[in-house]
Amino acid sequence: MGVHSRLFAFSSAFKTSDFSTFTAISVSISLFHYLRAYMPSLNDHWDSIFSEKNDEQLGWYEKDVTQTLKFIHMIPDRENSTVFLPGAGTSQLALNLFADGYKLILNDISKKALEKLESHMGTNDRTIWLHHDISKPLPDNLPSVQIWIDRAVLHFLTDEKAIDGYFSNLKQALDPGGHVLLAEFSSHGASQCAGLDLHRYSIEEMTDRLGPDFQLIRHEEYTYTNPSGGKRPYIYALFKQIL
Ligand SMILES: C[S@@+](CC[C@H](N)C(=O)[O-])C[C@H]1O[C@@H](n2cnc3c(N)ncnc32)[C@H](O)[C@@H]1O
Repeated sequence: MGVHSRLFAFSSAFKTSDFSTFTAISVSISLFHYLRAYMPSLNDHWDSIFSEKNDEQLGWYEKDVTQTLKFIHMIPDRENSTVFLPGAGTSQLALNLFADGYKLILNDISKKALEKLESHMGTNDRTIWLHHDISKPLPDNLPSVQIWIDRAVLHFLTDEKAIDGYFSNLKQALDPGGHVLLAEFSSHGASQCAGLDLHRYSIEEMTDRLGPDFQLIRHEEYTYTNPSGGKRPYIYALFKQIL
């Protein structure tokens, strides 16, 4: 029995002869199937961006990662750390951290981004490549993490369930005493990027979402200038998990 015949049987069973109700349900179901078939998944959305553009054409590409390194350098005894980069993209930061000798877990929802990054970095035994939606539970066989660095990823999660999933991953992955650097679009930043809506952050919301087990070390507003000259106000905040 097809979808429409099942729907008809369903409405008859409930003695719903109201044609407009039937039509509305039928249109919603058809729309659902259409959207499922033709709307790209988030995965596809990001893959096509990384397939079609080179790094300098990406609105978030940062060749000089001094601003992020400035915050990383505030972390004491960081030399032997494992660093988790959610949504690593093709970031120069990953290459810098690799050159500095860190062990890395490089995550992204886009396989294409990870392939590009691996082609720049080279195959090695200090990096775990993790193709995964960071709002979904992480695999439980990952090594423990001492530093979590997110630049321009968390702000793409817009529904509460996804944001909660992200923070519970972060809290689970991080070792006691570990550090978290969040660099997201600030409250007066743009409301969209890469064709997607954003959830912008204040320091209060970051602090609140991390909860009482995290101590704020330092935060600042920073305006990033993208490759086409656009100004993007970010908020950078470094936290330490209290033992
Ligand atoms: C604006 S880019 C930032 C990339 C990199 N962090 C940087 O600073 O250059 C956002 C990145 O997050 C990834 N991303 C988006 N949503 C994600 C999700 N739910 N899970 C994991 N990665 C995601 C995208 O594929 C993309 O690489």
